[in-house]
Amino acid sequence: MLLHRIHAALILLTLAGSTFAADEIHWTIKGRTAITFDWRGSETSISYGLSSGSYTATVTAVTPSPLPFSSSGPFREARLTGLLEDTLYYYRIGTGPEGTFRTPPLPGASGFTAYLEADIGTSLNYPSTMPAVQQLIANGAPAFVLAAGDLTYGNAHGQTRVDQHFNDVMVWSTRAAYMPAWGNHEWEPSDDLRNYKGRFDLPNPQTSPGSPAISCCGEDWYWFDYGNVRFIAYPEPWSGAWSDWSTRARAVMDDAQASADIDFIVTFGHRPAYSSGHHPGSSTLKSILDSLGATHTKYVLNLNGHSHNYERTFPQSGVVHITAGGGGASLEQDTQCLWLTCTQPSWSAFRAMRLGPVRLHFTASYIEGSFICGPPGGGTNDVACTPGSVVDSWVIFASGGGGDKEPPSIPTRLTATATGPQRVDLAWQPSTDDTGVNGYQIQRDGSSVGTSPTTTWTDTTVAPSTTYEYRVSAMDAAGNVSGLSDPASTTTPAGPLVFIAAEDATLKQGSPARNFGASPRLEIDASPVEGALIKFPVAGVNGRPISRAVLRLYCNNGSDRGGEIQKTATSSWAQGSVTWATAPAADPSSPVVPIGPVSSGRWIDVDVTSLVGGDGTLSLRIRGLSGDDAVYRSRESSLPPQLVVTVP
Ligand SMILES: [Fe+2]
Ligand SMILES: [Fe+2]
Repeated sequence: MLLHRIHAALILLTLAGSTFAADEIHWTIKGRTAITFDWRGSETSISYGLSSGSYTATVTAVTPSPLPFSSSGPFREARLTGLLEDTLYYYRIGTGPEGTFRTPPLPGASGFTAYLEADIGTSLNYPSTMPAVQQLIANGAPAFVLAAGDLTYGNAHGQTRVDQHFNDVMVWSTRAAYMPAWGNHEWEPSDDLRNYKGRFDLPNPQTSPGSPAISCCGEDWYWFDYGNVRFIAYPEPWSGAWSDWSTRARAVMDDAQASADIDFIVTFGHRPAYSSGHHPGSSTLKSILDSLGATHTKYVLNLNGHSHNYERTFPQSGVVHITAGGGGASLEQDTQCLWLTCTQPSWSAFRAMRLGPVRLHFTASYIEGSFICGPPGGGTNDVACTPGSVVDSWVIFASGGGGDKEPPSIPTRLTATATGPQRVDLAWQPSTDDTGVNGYQIQRDGSSVGTSPTTTWTDTTVAPSTTYEYRVSAMDAAGNVSGLSDPASTTTPAGPLVFIAAEDATLKQGSPARNFGASPRLEIDASPVEGALIKFPVAGVNGRPISRAVLRLYCNNGSDRGGEIQKTATSSWAQGSVTWATAPAADPSSPVVPIGPVSSGRWIDVDVTSLVGGDGTLSLRIRGLSGDDAVYRSRESSLPPQLVVTVP
């Protein structure tokens, strides 16, 4: 009778109660037979069991410590212990909907999939990108998700964003474990680690020196085993934290190296050791990870974020480094070429200015990784791809105990075929190796241009009417590289050169000291007086006559007169600082090209052949001619201005 009354009271409470009985639901792997759920809301317990609808155990939640402060909560944490290994459980929080979780596989077992993302944010700040990346992760049905820092940007956008993030990720976090590392945005003055340490119960938690006092101590970094892999997080670079981690992580690695159950060691944290994106690699972290890689043959992969882009390195001291900063926040781009280091460094195997998660599949003998194409936008994309498709894939083979000094055989019968003005297809015969070929490196005219896990590769960075010479070498898992193949040459057919605007900015006479370089719009108007600057890096003409050059602008707002274009006297302006007052004037000797009437929702092609002389920076200024304003998309949009140059 008493039970019956309590039950009725609970139902009444649910019907009349708050809009969320439980939200922000996620769980972490605490050990081989333990996991911990965290949520917010009035529900105070979690029930679970081995079959749907049949819950044989109930755990009452506790108030987590430290207590999150992003909202009034109430925040709950429930640790489930004594679970069966490698087992699917059904659960529900209070009277909420049923979910499932799976406990980690047996030690040494393999054949599981995890996802990686970093620099994530919320649907409130990144509505067209963040939810789409989370959905791609949910589609992949991973066992767990590694989130390598900069989780919510609550410090920049407000505390409501912290709660929103943990609701946004529920597309996967009610089924897949959420395994975080901390980024710089988790310990700012206006948001701090109480919001994060209080929302996770991490396995083998460790304390770092220098960790912020307000959230001190514990859970600065941690490690866990999942089947045949040991995952080790690293902390943020508080004073003394990395040198302390270096010593203690080495011991955790030594133990894994000696364990018959562990085939691979993977580290993950926010900061990169190698990066050619907006945040360069840390030389301190690089020396620590290089040293650990050189002394542990099972340590083959490091995962990080911080630079908002994707990048993969060749093995460095046996370790491949992946930057996966495409979790949803805007891409971080630098002027000229989008990348901080314009020329791709020799250690960089592949990079893409594109959002998207990384899929990691672990088998007994190799790790297979894929960068999944995310939603377009978040800045300028330098790869074209269909969301959900694979942009970059790679394989790391187990070293088999190390000591491999034998390079693979030299690849043979290389062919290079120009299949378009800006495309060359390569193919070759496979190499052999005593421990297995890990992939191939491709050289073009003596410089490294890419890598391939298979015996084909496509070069889409070539210019029309140009001859190229390629060579290929093979590499094994230990990083041994074969000699170079015989060369193969090809000449691309004639065709247009296509350039994307490197910089652009609107100029407003009425706001003479303001910079509009970050806007996705270029606004052209005669009243009020508004115009724009656009810059293109023209290359590959090589002195040939230009038969036609077309400026392509995507029009967002039509006008009876779309403006007129002239070259500027100087190209030494920067889109991040230029204003009406500092902008270069049109060159008085430049021809004047009218744009004519423009209509919204289409590309406008303007013949600017008279303005393009050859290779070098082309700087254009557009002036308004009509009080009916024209608006074009800028390089900060998904439809940036293009210059199409046709040479014979
Ligand atoms: Fe970030
Ligand atoms: Fe960051």
